[in-house]
Amino acid sequence: MGSGMSCNIISIAPMLGMTNQFFRYLMRLISQQVLLYTEMVTTPAILRGDMRDELSLLTCEHPVVLQLAGNDPKHLAQSARIGAEYGYDEINFNVGCPSHRMQVADFGVCLMRTPETVADCVNAMCEAVNIPVTAKIRLSDTDKIDMVALYRLIKLMSCAGCQTFVIHARGTILKKGWTPKANRSRLPLAYEKVYQLQQSFPQLGIVLNGGITDLSQINEHLQHTAGVMLGRAAYKNPYMFKDFDSLFYQKKSNMYSRETVKSLYLDHIHQHQYRHVPMMIKLKPLLHIYHGEPHASTWCQQLIAAEMR
Ligand SMILES: Cc1cc2nc3c(=O)[nH]c(=O)nc-3n(C[C@H](O)[C@H](O)[C@H](O)COP(=O)(O)O)c2cc1C
Repeated sequence: MGSGMSCNIISIAPMLGMTNQFFRYLMRLISQQVLLYTEMVTTPAILRGDMRDELSLLTCEHPVVLQLAGNDPKHLAQSARIGAEYGYDEINFNVGCPSHRMQVADFGVCLMRTPETVADCVNAMCEAVNIPVTAKIRLSDTDKIDMVALYRLIKLMSCAGCQTFVIHARGTILKKGWTPKANRSRLPLAYEKVYQLQQSFPQLGIVLNGGITDLSQINEHLQHTAGVMLGRAAYKNPYMFKDFDSLFYQKKSNMYSRETVKSLYLDHIHQHQYRHVPMMIKLKPLLHIYHGEPHASTWCQQLIAAEMR
């Protein structure tokens, strides 16, 4: 039976349309230690059985987490088993996504309204696999944060086997017009509530997510929580992770220069087996490697022009 404890200090958030195998390959050239996630995968998609290419892993990608979205314990258990067979190090249950598509399916953050169902799902996945089952949730499924409801959800889920909770430090508004982007930009972050959770549940790994952009913020949050997760910052500035292996894991990393990362990455995507993947999808993760450097945008344009020829 899988236990939910697996708390990596630094992780890169699951991001649909972004954290695909190419992005993960790029990040592994920069850091060999931070925890990587897939994009979220729904149980219907995984159970249809046509996701072999998306699910396949390269050895270098580890440690890597498969994020699942669903609401049926049996389907989630089957999907988790498939994930374990593909070699994922961990299964993460999506209980935080507020997108319209998730709402229609009653997946993601909607599940926070039915804690017993969430616990049944966690229990089924833990029974199915021998790797940790963790969860990514929000502080609330509304714009009000009800700490009593949140404590109850976390207790039920932890009794069911989840020991690590990634917490996106804001609530949600599930109304028409409130896209995930609007939820991110218009709802405030409430870091103190996440700190409070770690204090109240010292035996659990609480990972703080939301709005982190630099090293000083990471260091500040790590005073209060077991881990942090960065999303958009990793995508916009992948090279910011270059010292993280030594800073946070006391491990030596490749320490490749940007130029070396670029050439190794291009060698990778030029391989024969990726010829069917549109060039722009393969290039996209690399476009921000020079973030913050002079001439970054010219470099980007030249790269696109050269590769799209
Ligand atoms: C383009 C995009 C796609 C996302 N896709 C997912 C997803 O597949 N699963 C998930 O749990 N969260 C998803 N998120 C939310 C992020 O994982 C993260 O919680 C959010 O961006 C806040 O972290 P940040 O401020 O560090 O970006 C997505 C966010 C973005 C910007």
